[in-house]
Parts: sequence; C-alpha cells; structure tokens
Amino acid sequence: MDRIRIVGGNELHGVIPISGAKNAALPLMIASLLTDDTLTLENVPHLADVEQLIRILGNHGADISVNGRRERQGESYARTVHFTSRNIVSTTAPYELVSKMRASFWVIGPLLAREGKARVSLPGGCAIGTRPVDLFIEGLASLGANIEIDGGYVNATAPAGGLIGARYVFPKVSVGATHVLMMAATLANGTTVLGNAAREPEVVDLAKCLNAMGAKISGQGTSTITIEGVRSLSGARHRVLPDRIETGTYAMAVAMAGGDVILEDTEASLLDTALEAIRRAGAEISETNSGIRIVRNGAGIKPVDIVTDPFPGFPTDLQAQFMGLMTRSSGVSHITETIFENRFMHVQELARLGARISLSGQTAKVEGVPRLKGAPVMATDLRASVSLVIAGLAAEGETMVSRVYHLDRGFERLEEKLTRCGAHVERVSD
Ligand code: EPZ
Repeated sequence: MDRIRIVGGNELHGVIPISGAKNAALPLMIASLLTDDTLTLENVPHLADVEQLIRILGNHGADISVNGRRERQGESYARTVHFTSRNIVSTTAPYELVSKMRASFWVIGPLLAREGKARVSLPGGCAIGTRPVDLFIEGLASLGANIEIDGGYVNATAPAGGLIGARYVFPKVSVGATHVLMMAATLANGTTVLGNAAREPEVVDLAKCLNAMGAKISGQGTSTITIEGVRSLSGARHRVLPDRIETGTYAMAVAMAGGDVILEDTEASLLDTALEAIRRAGAEISETNSGIRIVRNGAGIKPVDIVTDPFPGFPTDLQAQFMGLMTRSSGVSHITETIFENRFMHVQELARLGARISLSGQTAKVEGVPRLKGAPVMATDLRASVSLVIAGLAAEGETMVSRVYHLDRGFERLEEKLTRCGAHVERVSD
C-alpha cells in the first residue's frame, strides 16, 4: 500500500494549479441520469471518488467516455467527460457500491424523478460521524414519494403521474439533501420551494448546470430555492467550478511552511471566511488575474479561533487542515466543529508529531508548539490525512503518512503539486 514521505523544513515557492471541485463534480455527474441526452462536464478532477462514481453510473446504464486532456505538463489532468444515459437499465444502487462512497446515495433523486422508482442502499455510518439520511426521506416524501426502508435499502416510488411540486423546509442545512431535492424537483409537476437550503457554491454550480439542461431553478446561493418542474431535460456542456477545499488546503500549507505561491484557476470568493482566518494567522493573501497569491515570510503563525458552519461559514472540510496550521502557532487557539460529531480523528495523529491538543466536546484547544518532529502517522479520512501532510511540511525530519488511499479520494496529484513548489514530498510504494 502506498505511503507519503515528507521531509519537513522547505518553504513553498511557485504556482499550484487548482483542480475542479470533487464535491461539485459528484452531484453534476449524478445529474446526468436526469436526461437521455449527453451531459458533457469539463474540468473533472482525476480522483478515486470520481472513478468510483463512474462505476456506479455505469451500473444504471450510463455510457461514459473520457477525453483526457493534459492541460499542464505533468501537473494537472483536467478531463472532459461525456455522460449519456439513453436508458436507465437498473434503478437499484446496491450496498457494495453505495457503501464505498456516501454521495452515491444521491442517485435516488434522479432515478425517482425520471423512472418513478429507486431502490438505493442506505450508506451506513462513516469515519466522520453517523450521517443519517432522514432529510432525504422526509424531503422526497414531501414531493409525494412513497418511501419504505427494508433490509438496509430505501425503496422509493413516485405517484403514478410523477413527483409533485411542494414546499419543504429543511430542519437542518444539508448539502446532499439540497442537491437531491433540487434534482428531483426539476422533473416534478408544479413548483417546489426549498427553505433553509444549503448555500454552498457546489449547490449553485449544480443549479447552473441543471438550468443549462433546461431546468427552471432560481434562488440558488440563497436559503430559498425555487424549482419549476419541466417535462424533460436535455444535454448540456458545463465546466466544474474550482475546488475551494483544495484551494484552502494549499493556502494553509503555504501559511505553515512559509513561502510565496500563486494558486491558479481558483477564486477567493469561494472561501472568504477561510482566507480571512489564514490572513489573521499571519499570511498575506491577494487576488491576482489568475487566482490567489499567498505569502508568509518570516512572521510567525498567530493563534486564531474558528467555528465550522455551513457556507458562508468556515468549512468543516478545512477544519483538520486549519488545526494542522494552528499546532505551530504562538499561542492557544480553539477549533469548534459543529457539522459532524466525530471529525477530530486527526487529533491523535497530530499529537504523534508533537502537537498539544486537548478535546472537550465539540471544541479542540490547540496550544501551539515551537517545533514539530516527524513520525509515522496514519490517514483516517480524506481531510484528516491532508492535515498530517501540512503538519509534516513544518516538522523536523521525516513524516511517513500511511493509508494514503484516503488522500487519493480527493486530492489530485498532491505530491507533484507540492514538490514543484520545493517541498520534499514523495509517494513510496511498498
Ligand atoms: C457534503 O456532505 C460534502 N460531501 C462533505 O465533504 C462536507 O463535509 C459536507 O457536505 C458538509 O459541508 C460532498 O459534497 C460529496 P451534509 P453531505 O448533508 O452532503 C446531517 C469531504 O471531505 N444530516 O451537508 O453528506 C449530517 O449528519 C466530504 O469532501 C442529517 O442529519 O453533508 C451532518 O451532520 C466529507 N440528515 C449535517 O447534516 C440527513 O439526512 C451536514 O451534512 C443528511 C445530513
């Protein structure tokens, strides 16, 4: 199994191209099931989660072709992928596939809207928390679906004439349930109004693509989304938006290691709150024509408190990385996680590098230390694993991160992107 070896101490200087967003690409790919025409997505990142979803969509009858386009020599493989689901050959998403990736549960929306039925395995728990699906079930039921849970599967059936537009207010903000209800409502009879909807940029990107396919969605990016149902959707061509979590991760890596890096093909407006926290920690951040420049020269890292929140708050998907940065701050910081109940597994691993962190409920108290020392550590989930890489960049000596398949789910060519900026990071295959 591959491992990542980091020898800390080098500053980062250069340009890092930012890939298309994993968390936008996945729902966009699933939206292709809503039409018998071809949906073409540009800037699709080459990641394990994307490959897994390609297998899942194939199981439902999607014909998928990939045009690999090497946009930048050796750095980024942005790909254009064509999805055509002329016929849905199966409305069942089996446990073996859904259990590997929670987002595959989201096929329930398009399958139910287009075929009138779906049988989708419950995703089960995962490393970062229990993550139930009650909001999906309640929301789809409000559109008239009959839903039964049996043998670990959700069996959903639409009324004879199809789903019916309705008003549904989410009791809690959920990105995935917003994606699914929005997709399902595009083909419902009448108008659907979603209240307390997620405002994440990935929701806006999905709405933009669905509108290009002929849907009538408005209000995306606010907490009230209105969807006027249409009879059918057509194909479209859409470019996946930049990955704000990858952007924030590399910004934090530069803030940690020091240096001067341009993050290319991305937009600061996707992550204002996180960039503000990094600025307060002592890095200089400015916008350039092609992206974001981040500089930390000499100045130490200051302690900053953060609380994760739905967009536009501080993203939970950057919490572990920010904790990595705070391990080297000059004081005490508090990091509070409000989205997932168990997203602190990186704490024990960061401690192996010498970090001083104590947990009390949903808050981690991080006492900055003057030095970290390299050690063998283990990746526990996608974002936790990259926080170990960030800490390793500033640790003395060698940090060896095992179980890097977690990293490969969401970071495209991480070691190459960092190495080109002067870091000592390599993949070791046993
Ligand atoms: C999306 O997950 C992202 N995944 C996650 O990124 C991200 O952490 C999360 O949104 C929050 O921003 C993708 O986009 C593929 P939620 P999602 O539904 O949609 C609870 C990463 O590292 N909830 O917004 O599954 C849930 O348990 C991943 O890339 C219910 O209670 O998250 C959580 O506490 C990890 N009932 C909260 O809502 C439900 O039916 C928010 O979860 C659904 C969710």
